[in-house]
Amino acid sequence: MELTKQEESILNGEHGDVLERQMRLLVRLGEIYNADKMIPVGSVQVAGVSYKSIGDPGLDFLEDIASKGGKVRVLTYLNPAGMDMKDWKELGFPKDFAEKQIRIMRAFGDMGINTTATCTPYLAGNLPRFREHIAWSESSAVSFANSVIGARTNREGGPSALASALLGVTPNYGLHLEENRKATIRINVNTELKTSSDFGALGYWAGKHAKNGIPFFKGIRDANTDELKFLGAAMAASGAVALYHVSGLTPEADSQVGGGLETFDFGDKEKKETYETLNTGQNPDIAILGCPHASIREIAYVASLLEGKRLGKPLWICTSRAMKQLADNLGYTLKIRKAGGRIVADTCMVVSPIEEMGYKRTGVNSGKAANYLPGFCKQEVIFRDVEKLVEELLV
Ligand code: F3S
Repeated sequence: MELTKQEESILNGEHGDVLERQMRLLVRLGEIYNADKMIPVGSVQVAGVSYKSIGDPGLDFLEDIASKGGKVRVLTYLNPAGMDMKDWKELGFPKDFAEKQIRIMRAFGDMGINTTATCTPYLAGNLPRFREHIAWSESSAVSFANSVIGARTNREGGPSALASALLGVTPNYGLHLEENRKATIRINVNTELKTSSDFGALGYWAGKHAKNGIPFFKGIRDANTDELKFLGAAMAASGAVALYHVSGLTPEADSQVGGGLETFDFGDKEKKETYETLNTGQNPDIAILGCPHASIREIAYVASLLEGKRLGKPLWICTSRAMKQLADNLGYTLKIRKAGGRIVADTCMVVSPIEEMGYKRTGVNSGKAANYLPGFCKQEVIFRDVEKLVEELLV
């Protein structure tokens, strides 16, 4: 790899031990993937934030960097933490868990990281532009940034993203290169997609077929950014899809598709079978929406569904702190609260310890959450459209 004089001097330890270690990590990564050089990044999003995911070793690692004065050089956001950083007590999060989570957030904050903890940073003040190079790590955020915005990012691990934040660069390989963004399979969609869960079901099914490839979708007539968010998140979970193209909807679809692609059809039968696969339980004892973190449009929709209703079981809508504040200002939080639901900020159903909080059967509208909840949180899953989930929770 060709390094600049500055990068060489960091690698030689002339800027301290913390930066030397970070540069070594990025250079090693670049060598593995044959990167020719480092490129500057416009922003970073760091995963590995929940105490549930990183435990004590992760906490020690972060506190070590923070105590040695490590500071980020570019706009850096965090992935969801393991709990709502304000309302954790009221929501029933365990105290010992909370103490560790607070220390993690403090360490990140000391490094100059914006501790907005969200998997939809693009909705909360960290919006890259088309073709901007970034280093993000949460898989659904990576998918959205690459596919819907047309920014360039690999799917970074937590440590490599943090290294990019501290150094402001990333190795130039993978999806940063134009030639690696071409579609590798084609999926013809021959069924109507009406709800976010339909997009999640398609994403789950497509991820199984695409694996770590790049799908090109034909036949999706329309989709808003929330629906594309559900599609990408599920594909990144059931497969390892970091970029997809949708004919007529995403910015690189026309330029990155060629002929002769292996082709699959997703019709009524495939949709029905996917719902059957993802439903592993019934009679939810909680429903959790907001995977990926909810937009204000989704929150408004739930508030409208709950108007004048009363829930008999808990309903959480996970989102960023910024979106929660907007929902507070617009009166949605109060409407949802009156019906017995909660907007939960900073965390989500997968990275919070819901299994330790007594929940066994969780209702979701997200293909990604449906994919992860059985393994990560020992949950039976009820996978439905938001409207049906809400109906099941009503008194
Ligand atoms: Fe986000 Fe958690 Fe889903 S990080 S994409 S809400 S699993």
